[in-house]
Amino acid sequence: MRTLIVGVGALGGVIAARLLEAGVVAELATRDAAAARRLTQSGLRVSGVGGEVVVSRLTTVAALDEYRRRQFDLILLATKAHDAMAIASDLGEMLSPTGVLLPIQNGGVSHLLHERLPHGRVLAGLSNLGATMVSPGIYEQRNAGHLLVGEIDGGGSDRAESVQRWLGRGVEVKVSHNMPGAIWSKLLLNCSVTTLGAVAGLTMREYVTAPHALDLFERTYDEALSVALAAGARLERMLVDPFPPGWEGRTIRDGAYEEWMREVLEASMLQDLERGRPTEVELINGYVVQRGQALGVPVAVNAAIVETVRAITRGDSEPSPSLLSATLARAQAAVRASAWTPGSVRSGST
Ligand SMILES: NC(=O)c1ccc[n+]([C@@H]2O[C@H](COP(=O)([O-])OP(=O)(O)OC[C@H]3O[C@@H](n4cnc5c(N)ncnc54)[C@H](OP(=O)(O)O)[C@@H]3O)[C@@H](O)[C@H]2O)c1
Repeated sequence: MRTLIVGVGALGGVIAARLLEAGVVAELATRDAAAARRLTQSGLRVSGVGGEVVVSRLTTVAALDEYRRRQFDLILLATKAHDAMAIASDLGEMLSPTGVLLPIQNGGVSHLLHERLPHGRVLAGLSNLGATMVSPGIYEQRNAGHLLVGEIDGGGSDRAESVQRWLGRGVEVKVSHNMPGAIWSKLLLNCSVTTLGAVAGLTMREYVTAPHALDLFERTYDEALSVALAAGARLERMLVDPFPPGWEGRTIRDGAYEEWMREVLEASMLQDLERGRPTEVELINGYVVQRGQALGVPVAVNAAIVETVRAITRGDSEPSPSLLSATLARAQAAVRASAWTPGSVRSGST
């Protein structure tokens, strides 16, 4: 299986090192030639969970442009979400006639690429493997997680199993027959735990006690859950039960809910969900907004979060717990404004 790993950051670096160490032949693509030269010199070194790996002679790394005339049976896409969206069409041209693109980003990337690329070229992926990059070439594996692969419409396939066997020589890979459900189940946590962490500039354990934080968390989660159900996702337990106890379209806080929140907090620490990165919000909360609007599900809270993160990205505001209440207020104002219509005022005044 001629394999190219695109993006040698935290996740791509750990996966590449473990595959190469296991004797899996894979080539690596960096953004540019300078990054490729740095990696050729440094090699790859992984520490942490799963044991140390050192790949000192790295001969198969080059800038992505260098691979453009080549064809691959498997392209594992390990860039951030926005870069994945930007380069996916070009990568589609680099696939062999039966080749597949395997994106492993969180959020709506697999679904959106499936819609954008010719039919059948995308095999959906997710990573429960946690990794950080200390510096280029030096990585730490943070947990004993696995990659999840499967068809974007659900169900099993020979190609998902081939990819599992191939990549499974270096990292743990599981085949899911319910990728839409898995993707949405993880997305629920990413759009609440991860993004709100990025807004507050704190871990969830720290931000959850800030004013209005729990309220915003619940509303964000509830909205995303409503969109997932409207999209027909069969949600499944990923890190926690996707349904807060007693959930019937709206969270009811009671003792069981407190216990569920405790599990969410624990999962947020174990899975490195905590320090969210603002850059991926468009494909996480933004994806919830896009799907919710198409399905007629209210998404004012996720839309307000996207606006807040855009302001942070533009440099107009700094991550801070006070942004949580401001975001909730913005969402509530949007709901009030959408409930206001000239007709409603006229009928109220007559
Ligand atoms: N890390 C985790 O524990 C983890 C867990 C689950 C899911 N994920 C998801 O997996 C994705 C990757 O995460 P990450 O933490 O590995 O990110 P990362 O450390 O930023 O790595 C991404 C790498 O892709 C490179 N890249 C960007 N554009 C490229 C291009 N056009 N061609 C080749 N390489 C390119 C980046 O290079 P530059 O430095 O030049 O930008 C960077 O080295 C994200 O969507 C993340 O949400 C990560």
